[in-house]
Amino acid sequence: MAKRLIFLGPPGAGKGTQAEIISENHQIPHISTGDILRAAVVQQTPLGKQAKDYMNRGELVPDVLILNLIQDRLGYEDAVNGWILDGFPRNVNQAAFLEELLAKLEQNADCVLNLEVPDEVLVSRLLARKRKDDNESTIRRRLEVYHQDTVPVIDFYQQRSTLKTIDGDRPPEEVTEQLCSAIV
Ligand code: AP5
Repeated sequence: MAKRLIFLGPPGAGKGTQAEIISENHQIPHISTGDILRAAVVQQTPLGKQAKDYMNRGELVPDVLILNLIQDRLGYEDAVNGWILDGFPRNVNQAAFLEELLAKLEQNADCVLNLEVPDEVLVSRLLARKRKDDNESTIRRRLEVYHQDTVPVIDFYQQRSTLKTIDGDRPPEEVTEQLCSAIV
């Protein structure tokens, strides 16, 4: 059965870590807008050049750069039998766009999984990782942007009864177990 999953959660919640595992288990692609953007920055594509400064500041990249990217990616052949979206949607406009796109593709999401982790745990996880945007000021800004723009996406899916909340402040294996139970 196709699995179409959306992973929500703040920076450092473990979306990418868990999406890798579930993607492997279910043989479905892990679609991370952050990974796509970082690859574009490294390759210095027009998208990467436009996105770079926003990412370094911890701001969201403008929707106009993201929406086409997602539309194209969900059209790839490997996405026919399911996918995991990690890092998208990031605001209510992206969520509404996705809802319309999935209705057109006749591919509604099966489940939205929201990983909850306290802010201070997130900050220490991210400082330990040392990605380019993992410095204290950018992390704080990413968290502010998360609370301002992405938390309303949780309400968006709560109203549609597709949301399940997972305690992400547990060892990774326990988080995987919770996710596996939630998506059967
Ligand atoms: P993005 O790449 O999406 O970054 P993010 O949301 O900040 O997510 P992270 O990768 O930091 O966290 P994660 O939840 O995936 O955690 P992870 O598994 O890596 O976005 C980066 C930037 O791109 C944005 O700021 C924005 O500019 C732009 N962007 C991306 N998408 C966009 C969109 N849709 N619209 C506009 N702009 C967009 O884990 C983090 C660390 O914690 C790792 O070291 C990991 O080993 C560790 N860890 C994981 N789980 C656990 C655990 N259970 N216990 C202890 N440690 C753990």
